[in-house]
Amino acid sequence: MKQGSHDSAITLRSPLAEDAADLHTLVAECPPLDPNSLYCNLLHCTHFSGTSVAATRRDSQGNERLVGFISAYIPPAQPDTLFVWQVAVAQEARGEGLGRRMLDAIVQRPACAGVRYINTTITPGNQASWALFESWARRHGAPTTSHVHFERERHFAGRHDDEHLMRIGPFELAAEFAT
Ligand SMILES: CC(C)(COP(=O)(O)OP(=O)(O)OC[C@H]1O[C@@H](n2cnc3c(N)ncnc32)[C@H](O)[C@@H]1OP(=O)(O)O)[C@@H](O)C(=O)NCCC(=O)NCCS
Repeated sequence: MKQGSHDSAITLRSPLAEDAADLHTLVAECPPLDPNSLYCNLLHCTHFSGTSVAATRRDSQGNERLVGFISAYIPPAQPDTLFVWQVAVAQEARGEGLGRRMLDAIVQRPACAGVRYINTTITPGNQASWALFESWARRHGAPTTSHVHFERERHFAGRHDDEHLMRIGPFELAAEFAT
């Protein structure tokens, strides 16, 4: 049995290299997420395993299925900040609080002991993503700010919507999660 926390038949654990191909498929099934190369997903599952999370559920045959994933890392120049790159929850597992629980699972890790902020970028039209991060901030009593960060013309050569940087924090979760 792989190590992780269990909640309503879903296991949350650090990703493994063997998850990368399933992550590649999950991201492809979760528009509007940008697909990455499989090699990039391998880096998420190995170099960034300590600050990323895989959510799995056993199917009726007992096979483990990847139903959620967050790719995140601590930028070298911002050791107090977790940058959340992609959040993917399979259609079948949405609306159960899994996105929120995956964020909780990461910030409780030893690797995040010094983290006081979450940064993420969101396109203006992605209501589910805004709702997820606003809900997480509200539940942890953390303030939020947002502004345009990567711009459609200037940074994406017109090929991608603006990405707004949402910053959550400061927060202090050690006591909250200890109870
Ligand atoms: C965004 C996504 C990760 C949310 O996952 P989820 O597990 O269903 O979210 P949760 O159940 O944890 O919901 C968290 C909050 O967001 C709200 N929410 C979730 N999906 C929503 C939607 N489509 N519209 C409005 N609100 C939504 C929930 O109601 C909840 O708010 P509450 O606590 O006030 O009740 C999922 O819809 C997804 O994978 N979408 C496609 C990929 C994507 O856009 N990822 C985010 C960009 S990185």
